[in-house]
Amino acid sequence: MQTHPDRLATLATLFGLRPAPPERCRVLELGCGDGGNLVPMALALPDSTFVGIDVALTATARGQGLVDALGLGNVTLLAQSFESWWPEPESFDYVIAHGVYSWVAQDERDRLLAICRAALADDGVAYVSYNALPGGHVRQAMREMLLFHTADLAPRLQTQLPQARALLQFLREGAPETEHGALVRREAERMLAQSDASLLHDQLAPFNDPVYFYEFAAHAARHALQYLAEADFFEMQIGAASEQTVEALMGVENVVRREQYLDFLKGRMFRQTLLCRAEVAIDRTPHPEVLERLAVSTQAQPQGEPGLDGKQAFTGPTGSTLTTDHPLVIDALKRAASAWPAALWVRDVLGPQATPDDRRALCDALLRSYAANLVALHVHPPRPTTTPGEAPRASALARHQALGGEMVTNLRHASVRIEDDLGRRLVTLLDGTRDRAALTAELRSFLSEQGRPVPDDLPDSLERSLQGLARLALLDGT
Ligand SMILES: C[S@@+](CC[C@H](N)C(=O)[O-])C[C@H]1O[C@@H](n2cnc3c(N)ncnc32)[C@H](O)[C@@H]1O
Repeated sequence: MQTHPDRLATLATLFGLRPAPPERCRVLELGCGDGGNLVPMALALPDSTFVGIDVALTATARGQGLVDALGLGNVTLLAQSFESWWPEPESFDYVIAHGVYSWVAQDERDRLLAICRAALADDGVAYVSYNALPGGHVRQAMREMLLFHTADLAPRLQTQLPQARALLQFLREGAPETEHGALVRREAERMLAQSDASLLHDQLAPFNDPVYFYEFAAHAARHALQYLAEADFFEMQIGAASEQTVEALMGVENVVRREQYLDFLKGRMFRQTLLCRAEVAIDRTPHPEVLERLAVSTQAQPQGEPGLDGKQAFTGPTGSTLTTDHPLVIDALKRAASAWPAALWVRDVLGPQATPDDRRALCDALLRSYAANLVALHVHPPRPTTTPGEAPRASALARHQALGGEMVTNLRHASVRIEDDLGRRLVTLLDGTRDRAALTAELRSFLSEQGRPVPDDLPDSLERSLQGLARLALLDGT
């Protein structure tokens, strides 16, 4: 989600750039793996073009299989290292490198940033994620323990992984009730929950060298790139801190230094940094009026009814809250919440009668809500439907993915899990050609073929499932 051109363009717009519209843009991904990130975007943005590069032949071949199965003509996956490739100058609007920078050697990092600079068009945006310090120190210590323990073993899944897991269990069970023990137990627990592939990539890979943000920003500057923002706007906020702390941080004029002190306070261990060309003029104070050009979506729910003072609290899924007594803001947030998973244009929420005061109040409140991770903002809003039509349709990608596993990508570019096989079967059937009677008949024969009982209320349960899939942003509204 954080790498989607909509996200990158929205943040760039807030910071005064004029980025390319996501619906007609050129995207490059360095280290694209099997195209798990690019392919859903390419399907959703048919007039944009996507190029992915990865040195892992099996991954790109898997990705090419998916591209062919979906008949996509706007994605090119190149099976080569990015050291052996160079872009046409300024030929991309967005460059993505997710999970690559801190996992490769210094000369590859250099090449990665050099390509970002060469490839980016004027108001282009690069997304680069990496493990960060000081938060990464504890994980670094864990990695060193794992490397020590597995040093004599062949670097293969079959030999290293069981031993890595054995050491993590030993640490989880044996760490004493001290501050150090608590840290070790928490990290061991987290790593044990990781998949084999993530454990191997995150902890046992040849390189995993977190960097301080100031080091990353200095490296970017050597390639004529500058810090624009974090892909999660709320990560740039100071959050709950004393007045003195806020004042001290706000007194640091240099944005890189200020963000570095913020990392010291937060113990940040991972960053998803957006960069742009060094010569671009950035307006670092987002102006609320820009929101009139954007759309808003939210899962925030009102908490009870407004009090006697008219105050209404809204809480989001991550626990963040906003309290307001402004009737227009209360109404707007309620309308946006009921439109979820789709988005509403802020100008439509305001309507033609809105006064300048109304507009200021709503845009201010939405900007604060964005900073609190209570709403998402969009230049190119997702278009899932909230009401399944006569012949509901899931995206071709979700239908394809549901044939092979539990994880499918929704129309908000997020992964969602469909655990039961009847639900997955239903998704594969939603190609826009079947009405409810046809869907019920297909599900009935699926259950009968498996010798399972067919519930009497199958049509009702189908309706509930369709509503559930719509809520998960899996049904196409276009
Ligand atoms: C953790 S994976 C991330 C994959 C993808 N970006 C994602 O988010 O799912 C890192 C990828 O970078 C690729 N990679 C590492 N060094 C590379 C290089 N020098 N040239 C091209 N690809 C590279 C690896 O093969 C791997 O697929």
